[in-house]
Amino acid sequence: MTGMPDLSRRQFLSATAAGYAALSLGARAPAAQSEGGAVAVSSANGLEAVRTAWEGMSQGGRPVDAAVAGVNLVERDPNDLSVGYGGLPNENGVVELDAAVMDGPTHNAGAVASLRGIKTPSQVALRVMRRTDHVLLVGQGALEFARAHGFQEENLLTERSRKLWLYWKERRSDRDDWFPPSDEELAEDPILRNERPPGTIHLSARNESGDFGCVTTTSGLAFKIPGRVGDSPLIGDGLYLDNEVGSAGSTGRGEAVILSCGSFAIVERMRSGRTPEQACHDILERIVDQSRRNGLADDQGRPSFNVRFYALSKDGKYAGASMYSGGKFAVADAAGARLEEGSFLFQRG
Ligand code: GLY
Repeated sequence: MTGMPDLSRRQFLSATAAGYAALSLGARAPAAQSEGGAVAVSSANGLEAVRTAWEGMSQGGRPVDAAVAGVNLVERDPNDLSVGYGGLPNENGVVELDAAVMDGPTHNAGAVASLRGIKTPSQVALRVMRRTDHVLLVGQGALEFARAHGFQEENLLTERSRKLWLYWKERRSDRDDWFPPSDEELAEDPILRNERPPGTIHLSARNESGDFGCVTTTSGLAFKIPGRVGDSPLIGDGLYLDNEVGSAGSTGRGEAVILSCGSFAIVERMRSGRTPEQACHDILERIVDQSRRNGLADDQGRPSFNVRFYALSKDGKYAGASMYSGGKFAVADAAGARLEEGSFLFQRG
Protein backbone atom coordinates (compact mmCIF):
# COMPACT_ATOMS: atom_id res chain seq x y z
CA MET A 1 0.00 0.00 0.00
CA THR A 2 2.72 2.40 -0.89
CA GLY A 3 3.42 4.67 -3.80
CA MET A 4 -0.06 6.22 -4.11
CA PRO A 5 -0.98 9.39 -2.19
CA ASP A 6 -3.90 8.94 0.23
CA LEU A 7 -6.11 11.39 -1.62
CA SER A 8 -5.94 9.60 -4.94
CA ARG A 9 -6.53 6.25 -3.28
CA ARG A 10 -9.67 7.68 -1.69
CA GLN A 11 -10.82 9.00 -5.03
CA PHE A 12 -10.04 5.66 -6.60
CA LEU A 13 -12.34 3.87 -4.19
CA SER A 14 -15.01 6.53 -3.86
CA ALA A 15 -17.24 4.88 -6.46
CA THR A 16 -17.43 1.83 -4.23
CA ALA A 17 -18.02 3.87 -1.08
CA ALA A 18 -20.91 5.73 -2.69
CA GLY A 19 -22.95 2.52 -2.60
CA TYR A 20 -22.89 2.30 1.18
CA ALA A 21 -24.39 4.17 4.11
CA ALA A 22 -23.94 3.11 7.71
CA LEU A 23 -27.29 3.24 9.48
CA SER A 24 -26.19 1.15 12.41
CA LEU A 25 -23.07 -0.56 13.64
CA GLY A 26 -23.23 -4.28 14.01
CA ALA A 27 -25.82 -6.91 13.28
CA ARG A 28 -25.12 -10.30 14.74
CA ALA A 29 -26.68 -13.55 13.65
CA PRO A 30 -27.84 -16.09 16.25
CA ALA A 31 -24.99 -18.52 17.04
CA ALA A 32 -24.88 -21.09 14.27
CA GLN A 33 -23.82 -24.63 15.04
CA SER A 34 -23.96 -27.79 12.97
CA GLU A 35 -25.51 -30.93 14.43
CA GLY A 36 -22.17 -32.73 14.51
CA GLY A 37 -20.58 -34.71 11.72
CA ALA A 38 -19.06 -33.10 8.67
CA VAL A 39 -19.62 -29.43 7.92
CA ALA A 40 -18.49 -27.14 5.09
CA VAL A 41 -18.74 -23.33 5.02
CA SER A 42 -18.16 -21.14 1.98
CA SER A 43 -18.84 -17.83 0.32
CA ALA A 44 -22.28 -17.38 -1.28
CA ASN A 45 -21.03 -18.57 -4.69
CA GLY A 46 -20.20 -21.92 -3.05
CA LEU A 47 -23.62 -23.51 -2.54
CA GLU A 48 -22.87 -26.44 -4.85
CA ALA A 49 -19.27 -26.43 -3.64
CA VAL A 50 -20.24 -27.04 0.02
CA ARG A 51 -22.66 -29.76 -1.06
CA THR A 52 -19.87 -31.50 -2.99
CA ALA A 53 -17.38 -31.01 -0.14
CA TRP A 54 -19.82 -32.39 2.41
CA GLU A 55 -20.57 -35.44 0.24
CA GLY A 56 -16.83 -36.00 -0.28
CA MET A 57 -16.18 -35.97 3.47
CA SER A 58 -19.21 -38.18 4.15
CA GLN A 59 -17.70 -40.75 1.79
CA GLY A 60 -14.46 -40.68 3.77
CA GLY A 61 -12.56 -38.09 1.70
CA ARG A 62 -9.95 -35.94 3.38
CA PRO A 63 -11.36 -32.45 4.13
CA VAL A 64 -8.80 -30.65 1.96
CA ASP A 65 -9.56 -32.91 -1.03
CA ALA A 66 -13.30 -32.52 -0.49
CA ALA A 67 -12.88 -28.73 -0.27
CA VAL A 68 -10.89 -28.59 -3.52
CA ALA A 69 -13.41 -30.84 -5.30
CA GLY A 70 -16.10 -28.38 -4.21
CA VAL A 71 -14.39 -25.21 -5.47
CA ASN A 72 -13.38 -26.93 -8.73
CA LEU A 73 -17.05 -26.63 -9.74
CA VAL A 74 -16.79 -22.85 -9.45
CA GLU A 75 -13.34 -22.66 -11.05
CA ARG A 76 -14.72 -24.47 -14.11
CA ASP A 77 -17.91 -22.40 -14.23
CA PRO A 78 -17.65 -19.81 -17.05
CA ASN A 79 -20.40 -17.74 -15.42
CA ASP A 80 -18.50 -17.00 -12.20
CA LEU A 81 -16.54 -13.86 -13.07
CA SER A 82 -14.26 -14.01 -10.04
CA VAL A 83 -12.76 -17.49 -10.08
CA GLY A 84 -10.94 -19.73 -12.58
CA TYR A 85 -12.30 -20.02 -16.14
CA GLY A 86 -14.25 -16.85 -17.01
CA GLY A 87 -12.64 -14.89 -14.18
CA LEU A 88 -12.02 -11.23 -15.00
CA PRO A 89 -8.54 -10.56 -16.38
CA ASN A 90 -5.81 -8.10 -15.47
CA GLU A 91 -5.60 -4.67 -17.10
CA ASN A 92 -3.97 -6.23 -20.18
CA GLY A 93 -6.83 -8.70 -20.65
CA VAL A 94 -4.92 -11.72 -19.29
CA VAL A 95 -6.50 -13.93 -16.60
CA GLU A 96 -4.14 -14.43 -13.63
CA LEU A 97 -5.29 -16.82 -10.92
CA ASP A 98 -4.37 -17.18 -7.23
CA ALA A 99 -5.20 -20.17 -5.00
CA ALA A 100 -4.11 -21.85 -1.78
CA VAL A 101 -4.98 -24.93 0.24
CA MET A 102 -4.29 -25.99 3.83
CA ASP A 103 -4.48 -29.45 5.37
CA GLY A 104 -5.33 -29.68 9.07
CA PRO A 105 -3.82 -33.03 10.13
CA THR A 106 -0.39 -32.28 8.60
CA HIS A 107 -0.51 -28.49 9.05
CA ASN A 108 0.80 -28.23 5.52
CA ALA A 109 -0.10 -25.79 2.75
CA GLY A 110 0.38 -25.17 -0.95
CA ALA A 111 -0.32 -22.12 -3.09
CA VAL A 112 0.05 -20.57 -6.53
CA ALA A 113 -0.13 -16.93 -7.53
CA SER A 114 -0.37 -15.11 -10.87
CA LEU A 115 -0.91 -18.46 -12.59
CA ARG A 116 -2.05 -18.15 -16.22
CA GLY A 117 -3.84 -20.64 -18.45
CA ILE A 118 -4.90 -23.29 -15.92
CA LYS A 119 -8.59 -23.59 -15.05
CA THR A 120 -8.18 -25.20 -11.63
CA PRO A 121 -5.40 -23.42 -9.72
CA SER A 122 -6.59 -25.00 -6.45
CA GLN A 123 -5.55 -28.40 -7.82
CA VAL A 124 -2.13 -27.01 -8.69
CA ALA A 125 -1.90 -25.64 -5.11
CA LEU A 126 -2.72 -29.13 -3.82
CA ARG A 127 0.17 -30.54 -5.89
CA VAL A 128 2.51 -27.83 -4.55
CA MET A 129 1.58 -28.97 -1.04
CA ARG A 130 1.95 -32.69 -1.73
CA ARG A 131 4.70 -32.87 -4.34
CA THR A 132 7.17 -30.12 -3.39
CA ASP A 133 9.07 -28.92 -0.38
CA HIS A 134 7.65 -25.40 -0.97
CA VAL A 135 4.47 -23.56 -0.07
CA LEU A 136 4.05 -20.92 -2.81
CA LEU A 137 4.93 -20.91 -6.52
CA VAL A 138 4.24 -17.84 -8.68
CA GLY A 139 3.91 -16.84 -12.34
CA GLN A 140 5.98 -18.73 -14.90
CA GLY A 141 7.37 -21.11 -12.27
CA ALA A 142 3.85 -22.06 -11.18
CA LEU A 143 2.85 -22.60 -14.83
CA GLU A 144 5.89 -24.79 -15.55
CA PHE A 145 5.13 -26.81 -12.42
CA ALA A 146 1.50 -27.24 -13.55
CA ARG A 147 2.66 -28.33 -17.04
CA ALA A 148 5.03 -30.84 -15.47
CA HIS A 149 2.07 -32.34 -13.64
CA GLY A 150 0.06 -32.64 -16.86
CA PHE A 151 -2.34 -29.74 -16.39
CA GLN A 152 -3.85 -28.55 -19.68
CA GLU A 153 -3.19 -24.94 -20.73
CA GLU A 154 -6.34 -23.22 -21.96
CA ASN A 155 -7.61 -19.76 -22.83
CA LEU A 156 -9.43 -18.69 -19.65
CA LEU A 157 -11.06 -15.60 -21.17
CA THR A 158 -14.71 -16.12 -22.09
CA GLU A 159 -16.60 -13.84 -24.47
CA ARG A 160 -18.33 -12.26 -21.48
CA SER A 161 -15.15 -11.61 -19.51
CA ARG A 162 -13.42 -10.29 -22.65
CA LYS A 163 -16.27 -7.80 -23.23
CA LEU A 164 -16.28 -6.74 -19.59
CA TRP A 165 -12.55 -6.05 -19.81
CA LEU A 166 -12.81 -4.29 -23.18
CA TYR A 167 -15.67 -2.05 -22.07
CA TRP A 168 -13.84 -1.23 -18.82
CA LYS A 169 -10.74 -0.30 -20.85
CA GLU A 170 -12.73 1.79 -23.31
CA ARG A 171 -14.49 3.71 -20.53
CA ARG A 172 -11.38 4.38 -18.45
CA SER A 173 -10.49 7.71 -19.94
CA ASP A 174 -11.72 10.26 -22.45
CA ARG A 175 -8.11 11.27 -23.04
CA ASP A 176 -6.99 8.19 -24.93
CA ASP A 177 -7.83 6.71 -28.33
CA TRP A 178 -10.36 4.10 -27.16
CA PHE A 179 -14.02 5.04 -27.65
CA PRO A 180 -16.64 3.89 -25.10
CA PRO A 181 -19.14 1.15 -25.99
CA SER A 182 -22.61 2.21 -27.12
CA ASP A 183 -25.61 2.10 -24.78
CA GLU A 184 -26.97 -0.81 -26.84
CA GLU A 185 -23.77 -2.78 -26.27
CA LEU A 186 -23.90 -2.08 -22.53
CA ALA A 187 -27.57 -3.07 -22.40
CA GLU A 188 -26.63 -6.58 -23.60
CA ASP A 189 -25.79 -7.73 -20.09
CA PRO A 190 -26.42 -5.77 -16.85
CA ILE A 191 -23.05 -6.81 -15.46
CA LEU A 192 -21.31 -4.94 -18.30
CA ARG A 193 -22.23 -1.69 -16.54
CA ASN A 194 -20.65 -2.86 -13.30
CA GLU A 195 -17.11 -1.49 -13.23
CA ARG A 196 -15.38 -4.13 -11.10
CA PRO A 197 -17.58 -6.99 -9.90
CA PRO A 198 -16.12 -8.56 -6.73
CA GLY A 199 -15.75 -12.27 -6.07
CA THR A 200 -13.48 -15.16 -4.94
CA ILE A 201 -14.45 -18.41 -3.23
CA HIS A 202 -13.26 -19.67 0.15
CA LEU A 203 -14.30 -23.05 1.56
CA SER A 204 -13.53 -24.38 5.04
CA ALA A 205 -14.35 -28.02 5.76
CA ARG A 206 -14.36 -30.16 8.93
CA ASN A 207 -15.04 -33.90 8.88
CA GLU A 208 -16.76 -36.10 11.43
CA SER A 209 -13.46 -36.74 13.25
CA GLY A 210 -12.83 -33.00 13.64
CA ASP A 211 -10.08 -32.72 11.02
CA PHE A 212 -9.98 -29.61 8.84
CA GLY A 213 -9.07 -28.62 5.30
CA CYS A 214 -9.57 -25.34 3.48
CA VAL A 215 -9.07 -23.63 0.13
CA THR A 216 -9.36 -20.15 -1.36
CA THR A 217 -9.27 -19.53 -5.11
CA THR A 218 -9.77 -16.40 -7.21
CA SER A 219 -9.01 -14.45 -10.35
CA GLY A 220 -8.30 -11.57 -7.98
CA LEU A 221 -9.16 -7.93 -8.35
CA ALA A 222 -10.75 -7.31 -11.76
CA PHE A 223 -8.44 -5.41 -14.16
CA LYS A 224 -5.58 -5.43 -11.64
CA ILE A 225 -2.06 -4.36 -12.46
CA PRO A 226 -0.38 -7.48 -13.92
CA GLY A 227 1.40 -9.35 -11.16
CA ARG A 228 -0.84 -8.03 -8.39
CA VAL A 229 -1.40 -10.75 -5.78
CA GLY A 230 -4.24 -10.50 -3.27
CA ASP A 231 -4.86 -12.29 0.01
CA SER A 232 -6.19 -15.55 -1.45
CA PRO A 233 -2.91 -17.44 -2.01
CA LEU A 234 -1.24 -16.08 1.14
CA ILE A 235 -1.34 -18.43 4.12
CA GLY A 236 -2.67 -16.55 7.14
CA ASP A 237 -4.39 -13.92 4.99
CA GLY A 238 -6.96 -15.41 2.57
CA LEU A 239 -7.12 -18.66 4.56
CA TYR A 240 -5.69 -20.31 7.64
CA LEU A 241 -6.43 -23.27 9.84
CA ASP A 242 -5.17 -24.98 12.93
CA ASN A 243 -6.47 -28.51 13.33
CA GLU A 244 -6.88 -28.04 17.09
CA VAL A 245 -8.85 -24.79 16.74
CA GLY A 246 -10.65 -24.24 13.44
CA SER A 247 -10.45 -22.72 9.99
CA ALA A 248 -11.10 -19.32 8.43
CA GLY A 249 -10.95 -17.56 5.08
CA SER A 250 -11.90 -14.39 3.28
CA THR A 251 -13.26 -12.75 0.16
CA GLY A 252 -13.37 -9.07 -0.72
CA ARG A 253 -10.62 -6.46 -0.74
CA GLY A 254 -7.47 -8.53 -0.42
CA GLU A 255 -5.18 -5.66 0.48
CA ALA A 256 -7.16 -5.05 3.70
CA VAL A 257 -7.03 -8.74 4.59
CA ILE A 258 -3.28 -8.86 3.96
CA LEU A 259 -2.74 -5.82 6.20
CA SER A 260 -4.72 -7.42 9.03
CA CYS A 261 -3.43 -11.01 8.56
CA GLY A 262 -7.18 -11.63 8.68
CA SER A 263 -7.61 -15.41 8.62
CA PHE A 264 -4.70 -16.09 10.98
CA ALA A 265 -6.05 -13.46 13.36
CA ILE A 266 -9.52 -15.06 13.34
CA VAL A 267 -8.14 -18.53 14.12
CA GLU A 268 -6.07 -17.06 16.95
CA ARG A 269 -9.17 -15.30 18.34
CA MET A 270 -11.02 -18.64 18.27
CA ARG A 271 -8.05 -20.23 20.05
CA SER A 272 -8.53 -17.74 22.86
CA GLY A 273 -12.19 -18.67 23.24
CA ARG A 274 -14.06 -16.36 20.85
CA THR A 275 -16.83 -17.93 18.76
CA PRO A 276 -16.38 -17.90 14.97
CA GLU A 277 -18.78 -14.98 14.69
CA GLN A 278 -17.12 -12.97 17.48
CA ALA A 279 -13.70 -13.67 15.99
CA CYS A 280 -14.79 -12.48 12.52
CA HIS A 281 -16.25 -9.28 14.00
CA ASP A 282 -13.11 -8.62 16.05
CA ILE A 283 -11.03 -8.59 12.89
CA LEU A 284 -13.58 -6.63 10.84
CA GLU A 285 -13.45 -3.97 13.57
CA ARG A 286 -9.66 -4.02 13.43
CA ILE A 287 -9.84 -3.46 9.66
CA VAL A 288 -12.17 -0.49 10.20
CA ASP A 289 -9.58 1.04 12.50
CA GLN A 290 -6.78 0.32 10.02
CA SER A 291 -8.78 1.84 7.14
CA ARG A 292 -9.08 5.08 9.13
CA ARG A 293 -5.31 5.18 9.47
CA ASN A 294 -4.42 4.24 5.91
CA GLY A 295 -6.75 6.65 4.13
CA LEU A 296 -9.44 4.21 3.02
CA ALA A 297 -12.28 5.33 5.27
CA ASP A 298 -15.03 7.71 4.17
CA ASP A 299 -15.90 10.90 6.06
CA GLN A 300 -18.00 8.86 8.52
CA GLY A 301 -15.10 6.57 9.29
CA ARG A 302 -16.40 3.57 7.33
CA PRO A 303 -14.14 1.58 5.01
CA SER A 304 -14.62 2.31 1.33
CA PHE A 305 -14.54 -1.41 0.54
CA ASN A 306 -16.11 -4.69 1.59
CA VAL A 307 -14.46 -7.69 3.22
CA ARG A 308 -16.15 -10.97 4.14
CA PHE A 309 -14.87 -13.63 6.53
CA TYR A 310 -15.96 -17.25 6.99
CA ALA A 311 -15.01 -19.28 10.05
CA LEU A 312 -15.57 -22.78 11.40
CA SER A 313 -14.53 -23.98 14.86
CA LYS A 314 -13.48 -27.36 16.21
CA ASP A 315 -16.85 -27.76 17.96
CA GLY A 316 -18.80 -27.19 14.72
CA LYS A 317 -19.81 -23.55 15.21
CA TYR A 318 -19.60 -21.50 12.03
CA ALA A 319 -20.09 -17.94 10.80
CA GLY A 320 -20.03 -15.68 7.77
CA ALA A 321 -19.55 -11.99 8.52
CA SER A 322 -18.92 -8.96 6.36
CA MET A 323 -18.11 -5.29 6.65
CA TYR A 324 -21.37 -4.32 4.91
CA SER A 325 -24.81 -5.92 5.02
CA GLY A 326 -26.31 -7.91 2.20
CA GLY A 327 -24.04 -10.93 2.34
CA LYS A 328 -25.06 -14.54 2.53
CA PHE A 329 -22.78 -17.52 2.94
CA ALA A 330 -23.12 -21.21 2.10
CA VAL A 331 -23.20 -24.07 4.62
CA ALA A 332 -23.58 -27.83 4.27
CA ASP A 333 -24.00 -30.29 7.11
CA ALA A 334 -26.28 -33.21 7.93
CA ALA A 335 -29.26 -30.84 7.47
CA GLY A 336 -28.28 -30.23 3.82
CA ALA A 337 -26.71 -27.43 1.79
CA ARG A 338 -28.15 -23.93 2.15
CA LEU A 339 -27.45 -20.20 2.05
CA GLU A 340 -27.62 -18.38 5.39
CA GLU A 341 -27.66 -14.65 6.16
CA GLY A 342 -24.29 -13.39 7.30
CA SER A 343 -23.78 -10.87 10.10
CA PHE A 344 -22.21 -7.47 9.38
CA LEU A 345 -20.79 -4.30 10.87
CA PHE A 346 -22.42 -1.61 8.70
CA GLN A 347 -25.84 -1.47 7.10
CA ARG A 348 -25.56 -0.90 3.38
CA GLY A 349 -27.58 2.14 2.31
N1 GLY B 1 -9.83 -11.36 -2.01
C1 GLY B 1 -9.39 -11.58 -3.33
C2 GLY B 1 -8.43 -10.59 -3.81
O1 GLY B 1 -8.39 -9.48 -3.30
O2 GLY B 1 -7.68 -10.90 -4.72
